[in-house]
Amino acid sequence: MSQKKPDSPIHLSLAVSVMTDFRQGKPFSIKAAMSRARGEAGSLKELLLGAFRQLYLLERIVQSSCQRPLEKLEPLVYALLVVSAYRAYFLNVPDYTVVDQANQMCRRPGQKSLINGVLRNLTRYRKNPEHFLPKSADTIANASVRYSIPRWILEEPLSTSSPPEKVIARLNAPQQAFIRRSLQLFRAADIQTDIKGGGSVVSPGGFISVLCLDVKESHQVLDMGCAPGTKLLMLAEISPATLTGADASETRLQRIPDEAKRLGVPLPKLLCCDGRHPPFAPSSFDRIYLDAPCTATGTFSKHPEGKFLRTPQGLNHLVSTQQLLLEASLGLLKPGGILCYATCSIFKRENDSIVEATLQKSSHKFKVDFTLPFDWAEHIPELKARNRIQESLERTQQGYFINPAIHGLDGFYFARIKRSKEPVAT
Ligand SMILES: C[S@@+](CC[C@H](N)C(=O)[O-])C[C@H]1O[C@@H](n2cnc3c(N)ncnc32)[C@H](O)[C@@H]1O
Repeated sequence: MSQKKPDSPIHLSLAVSVMTDFRQGKPFSIKAAMSRARGEAGSLKELLLGAFRQLYLLERIVQSSCQRPLEKLEPLVYALLVVSAYRAYFLNVPDYTVVDQANQMCRRPGQKSLINGVLRNLTRYRKNPEHFLPKSADTIANASVRYSIPRWILEEPLSTSSPPEKVIARLNAPQQAFIRRSLQLFRAADIQTDIKGGGSVVSPGGFISVLCLDVKESHQVLDMGCAPGTKLLMLAEISPATLTGADASETRLQRIPDEAKRLGVPLPKLLCCDGRHPPFAPSSFDRIYLDAPCTATGTFSKHPEGKFLRTPQGLNHLVSTQQLLLEASLGLLKPGGILCYATCSIFKRENDSIVEATLQKSSHKFKVDFTLPFDWAEHIPELKARNRIQESLERTQQGYFINPAIHGLDGFYFARIKRSKEPVAT
């Protein structure tokens, strides 16, 4: 574990470079920045994720000391100010270090004097961050700043009746990682190891939804949207069934063989294809796991930058892909077979609405089934130990939802769809 050094200049320059790319709308990667930080990756991650968690609030803090509107600032200056404000207000980096290091990163005298002036004001007249929250009659606008989340996300109907603010509040806080070892899921902190000590990182929702497939040795199983293989390799490890993994991304599929080797599990058959037009005969599989491409809104705890990368148009596009994938995948299910439709989204439109619309269109041979063929808390000692066993999965109209506001975990949705046993006359 790297020692925390919130005042390292390496952090500042890497974080500012990521934030500048973000501001310019260029692709960026926090993971790539972390690999460049080497021994200090942990604290760089904390700095960057923290800045994205508090971005709207940081913008208001900076704006309070800056006469120019933030929209008019050069991307590098914007990034330096926002990251420096986070270091000063949330990481307790000494004021003189914050100002001095930001100064050293400025290229031109004009930039230097602006940065100097703003940061000196910010640190000299320091107030509690709460002071910068809006207190308007528009409660959504207030929540948007408090949780630094675009308004449209707060307005989108969720897969739960819990107040959106509660769900978002949990998703805007750090989340623990979980590591699977065979059929047990542990908090990484509890087993004092990372994946180098064995096992693989998987969310409780992903883990439970795979168990819900109830795979038997004789089954033909398809994992559609399988890359980079987290759930496919879990299936390969826990069951001797015949597995096929399919995904539209060749690059993501290429990561699976090495991961199978690392875990010491047999490599399933892999296929690159568009799941909307799958190259399999109808009724070929006993079990299908469809991990649909989604907004991944349930994972904002780990990827807070995602809050600013999603768009309503992107959501619409995903919804139509999800529906086509589900329709096509159901056509591959044998009579009596089970399909698990899963997403790590908190939005109803990507979850129950997809299942409902697809089942309405299909003949009556498919039905949602709420059987959970296992006791999920038995497999996740952390939840049992903390007496969270009472807090069962939240049942929605078509499936189950792991609710960040209740379970304190990443948001996750899955529906178990069963095909009736009788062959349907055509
Ligand atoms: C949520 S991720 C899957 C994660 C994976 N199941 C795991 O556990 O590691 C969704 C996947 O769907 C794939 N995908 C997107 N559109 C697709 C399509 N039309 N056909 C097949 N796969 C698709 C993406 O490439 C992505 O790998």
